[in-house]
Amino acid sequence: MRIDILSVVPELLVSPFEASILKRAQEAKRVEVHIHNIRDYSSNRYKQVDDYPYGGGAGMVLMIEPIAKCIESLQAQRKYDAVVYMTPDGQQLNQKTANHFSLFKNIIILCGHYKGVDQRVRDLFITDEISVGDYVLSGGELAAAVFCDAMIRLIPGVLGNETSALTDSFQDNLLAPPIYTRPADYKGHQVPEILTSGNTPKVERWREEKAMDRTKKLRPDLF
Ligand code: ADE
Repeated sequence: MRIDILSVVPELLVSPFEASILKRAQEAKRVEVHIHNIRDYSSNRYKQVDDYPYGGGAGMVLMIEPIAKCIESLQAQRKYDAVVYMTPDGQQLNQKTANHFSLFKNIIILCGHYKGVDQRVRDLFITDEISVGDYVLSGGELAAAVFCDAMIRLIPGVLGNETSALTDSFQDNLLAPPIYTRPADYKGHQVPEILTSGNTPKVERWREEKAMDRTKKLRPDLF
């Protein structure tokens, strides 16, 4: 998979891809992440990328020209399956969306900033609009990092243990069951006995039950 991310604050997108699973996924060539500074596509002498909104109002708006140039130059090089805009008024990200996008070969992700982008960018280039929740971030960069993390960990071969993404919370519309590690006794607080019994079928049944209980209690809406 190849992901091209367009941003006016590319610095915000460095560290999430330089550690842990996202770093390993790139090293293992499961994913290529390319970050583009929209400013590099400005033909303006001052590298201007934003301007005042027509009709007045607070805040600046990202201009269409540099974004269009960047997207068009990428699309001239390869075919993209999706051009995603990160925005609080998009469709809310969930595990199903992450699964869907993780199957794509090439995607572009546009991060908004300031008040957002000129509507014509959305009309002309964007195929999908994604939000990470009903709150407003300073820009789409952190949202894009969240979206990429959720997608990349689902690409086959990215996680060491192939089954571990399948047992994540939400993967089957259930929250994950409680998990424990050593010591078995922490100041009198014991690990459930069943987990140390060595009886795998029983452990599996216990996990399913706990996943159900937890989901019923914490997220009944998932049923
Ligand atoms: N940009 C600003 N806020 C956002 C949000 N909640 N989701 C996605 N992109 C955003």
